[in-house]
Amino acid sequence: MFKVGDQFQVTIEKMANRGKGLGRINDQVVFVPYSAPKDVLTVKATKVNKNFIEADIVAILTPSDLRVTAPCPHFTECGGCHFQHLAYSTQVEIKDQLVKETLQRAIGTISETAFLPPVASPKEWNYRNRIQIHINKSAYGFVKRNSHTLIPIEDCKIAEPALNKALADIKTTPDLMKNEKIELLIDKNLQVHQRDLNSQGQPVLFSQVNRFANKLLVDLVAEKVVGYAPKAKIYDLYAGDGNFLIAMGKSLPKNELVGVELNSGLVNLGRKEIEQQKLKASYVQSSVEEYLETVSIKSEDTVVLDPPRTGCDPRAMMVLGSKPRNKIIYISCEPTTLARDLRLIKDTAQKWGLSFRLDSVQTLDMFPQTEHIETVAEFSIEKIDTSTTTH
Ligand SMILES: C[S@@+](CC[C@H](N)C(=O)[O-])C[C@H]1O[C@@H](n2cnc3c(N)ncnc32)[C@H](O)[C@@H]1O
Repeated sequence: MFKVGDQFQVTIEKMANRGKGLGRINDQVVFVPYSAPKDVLTVKATKVNKNFIEADIVAILTPSDLRVTAPCPHFTECGGCHFQHLAYSTQVEIKDQLVKETLQRAIGTISETAFLPPVASPKEWNYRNRIQIHINKSAYGFVKRNSHTLIPIEDCKIAEPALNKALADIKTTPDLMKNEKIELLIDKNLQVHQRDLNSQGQPVLFSQVNRFANKLLVDLVAEKVVGYAPKAKIYDLYAGDGNFLIAMGKSLPKNELVGVELNSGLVNLGRKEIEQQKLKASYVQSSVEEYLETVSIKSEDTVVLDPPRTGCDPRAMMVLGSKPRNKIIYISCEPTTLARDLRLIKDTAQKWGLSFRLDSVQTLDMFPQTEHIETVAEFSIEKIDTSTTTH
């Protein structure tokens, strides 16, 4: 039995979720951050559980041929990036493979044709439009992985150039240096803002962090919905400020669209945009689960779901799985919760004598250099055709 601090040798077999390499010692699974498939490593246990060990690299005995030199000098110390030691094309392949494995484990065999080729981010570097900076007296930067220790940083390889300029300028702005934690962000009009994250009354509003990949994602979702030639309503559940709703409304001006979002700040932003664009869309400020339990979405309506990383509330899945659905598009930023939710909707459909059909799954990389994975899954809930069943 191993204990924390023990060192041993391990060979990495493949990458697992959360950006960690997976190896085995005495039939126990070992997860190692910043490793690569086929690395032979000396590692040190940092966490020992009944079912798995977590360990950090002490020495790379034989490096994987997939390794490249990480460009950032703070890589592995700063917790922001997880994959800089892998070429970008390898990162995209790994994420795609992880989604396949995670979904197949949850819902069973999926036809190879359902998996569409992964879409890479148009930018591998300098894509992030939002970063959080910690300030401590005269130093500022990011915090070290798993700690509160500050790592002074004035240039982040994944932040947009305008944010790096603002980052370097912090030291010459005494007012900013008085804060403990600030957010630097670029808005939709490409203006840079600084926000004190410790002050009261400033809710952090959701926005996609990679505007380059987001453009591809929005186009992809809108194209899919237009492709169904929907005759009925389109529901954008977890609509945020209308990222998908506005694009779908522009592409389908005759359809009625409804956005459901919990956060009032985002609802207000979305409503303003709808008014400016004169779209046939409206917002409901509510939790999706409560909305679905009180309103009847018809089978012929189209549903877009884009929940936070924690996924959907089980009640939402149980309502959606309880009757035939023309088309549901689920946009996920966490494959494990996507898999859990699809499993629940599939089981619910079966309970109601319906069948769940996964039409397509595609990864679209919103988060280069990091472990995070964005996936678009498209599925339907269908009546089972008993006329062809033989007895
Ligand atoms: C991943 S974001 C997506 C937002 C939007 N679709 C976009 O692309 O910008 C998830 C959104 O769900 C909202 N949210 C979280 N839990 C919710 C719930 N239970 N019901 C409704 N909205 C929720 C959050 O406020 C956030 O705006």
